[in-house]
Amino acid sequence: MTAPWWREGVLYQVYLRSFADADGDGTGDLRGLAGKLEYLAWLGVDGIWLTPIMPSPGADWGYDVSDYLDVDPAFGTLADLDELVVAAGERGIRVLLDLVPNHTSDCHPWFLAARSGRDSPLRDRYVWAAPGPDGSPPSNWLSAFGGPAWTLDEASGEYYLHTFLPQQPDLNWRSEDVRAAFDEILRFWFARGVAGFRVDVPHFLLKDDELRDNPPAEEADPWWVHRHGQRLVWNFMRPELHDVLRRWRVLADEQEPGRLLVGEGVIEGHQVAAFYGGGDDELHMTFHLGLANAPFEVVALRDVVEEAERLLPPGSQPLWTLGNHDIARYGSRWCEGDPRRIRLALLLLFGLRGTPTLYYGDELGLGDVPVPAESARDVEGRDPQRTPMPWSQEPGAGFTAADVDPWLPVGDRAGLTVAEQRGDPDSALALTRDLVALRRRSVDLRAGAYERLPASGGVWAWRRGGRTIVALNLSGEEDVVDDVAGTVALATDRERDGERVDGRLALAPWQGAVVIR
Ligand code: NOJ
Repeated sequence: MTAPWWREGVLYQVYLRSFADADGDGTGDLRGLAGKLEYLAWLGVDGIWLTPIMPSPGADWGYDVSDYLDVDPAFGTLADLDELVVAAGERGIRVLLDLVPNHTSDCHPWFLAARSGRDSPLRDRYVWAAPGPDGSPPSNWLSAFGGPAWTLDEASGEYYLHTFLPQQPDLNWRSEDVRAAFDEILRFWFARGVAGFRVDVPHFLLKDDELRDNPPAEEADPWWVHRHGQRLVWNFMRPELHDVLRRWRVLADEQEPGRLLVGEGVIEGHQVAAFYGGGDDELHMTFHLGLANAPFEVVALRDVVEEAERLLPPGSQPLWTLGNHDIARYGSRWCEGDPRRIRLALLLLFGLRGTPTLYYGDELGLGDVPVPAESARDVEGRDPQRTPMPWSQEPGAGFTAADVDPWLPVGDRAGLTVAEQRGDPDSALALTRDLVALRRRSVDLRAGAYERLPASGGVWAWRRGGRTIVALNLSGEEDVVDDVAGTVALATDRERDGERVDGRLALAPWQGAVVIR
């Protein structure tokens, strides 16, 4: 049996609003993306995940959906999506959408109806609860974006739950009505040829039915279970959520061809593992965001990877990324713009066992773009990692027309544009493309097991499969890896490509190589 495409392939996250603007309104759109398929095919990616495209008032940039069965006019039409899916398919690229099931927009007709009164037939689609005896919120849960997770609906005298903004009321996933409505939503997009979904915050889907208070955080608690002084217990990773994931998995697997379900991701290995289910019966893969949240240091990175190797169920496929629209770009966070470190980070991504995912611009080594306060758009300050793709140095960055103001500033992109890097064999972009191609040629890199090799200091080296070694020097000192023999298939210093190694691989500071015997 051949492996499913997503095990062998490379994913690419398109932050649609910032990718390519075809209609000249300063916002990226579906037709803009369609115009860049040639680039994505040249790069060699197999699947693209589009951040939410459904109609949304934009309080959280599409993560507040007001209609699950349409395309936001800012991005185009359903017909544009259909054309994109076909055109991408002709180039061997699958299209994944972002599914936002934990909450809707407060402008969604379901919420408007639910809010119209306690006896509304849609009331139960959301989470409502009476105030405490003193009028306080029903539990101490906090919103991810600050403040209480409950807002009082004055008219009915009940609070509604919102794990994020008050404009993002949480759906009640105990309701069969909600479950059935989402079955229809999944089927609707599957029928349009969508290859699957990235599922937003599955870890929050269900909450304790008694709405118990979270305990205070303890000092030793890591920040991700530690929300503004409390430990996430009763509204996070609840066991009941797995029923919903199993239900979607059946639906996805029933399709011809089967569709892919990918989880947004969590930070600890055992949490990531939980989404793979008891017997490969929940999400196909879930991002392990522990990697991007670790410092760029051997021990920290290696611990994340080796813990995942230990904890993920046998046969399952890890899903790695260096960042996304919620996290500072790796080019800044890890590499401070140092081209040697940027190359090393890319080699790491493609050297690990699992499916590599590029966040648009990662292939250029893009860093965060400073966004002045007067241009800021996001409530959570995530604009610097969401700025327009720098296609060229022309005004508008090749993202939008020269005389159009892009929705976020393009920033200073010298050396970081596709136009400059595409023709330069020594660029981050050329390295990424060669890594994608090498992975395609190498069964070891696609599917070989991970096995750590002895190394010291700042070096992390591992074997993949029978013949391939990946070695990274994550330090500012020269170092060596012993017992390496073969040919350098690809090094971050491209002049070393093709070099013979006979027993000892020397690595300059921040240098890495793939050696094949
Ligand atoms: C995770 C998304 O990636 C993020 O951008 C969003 O704000 C929250 N989920 C809420 O939907």
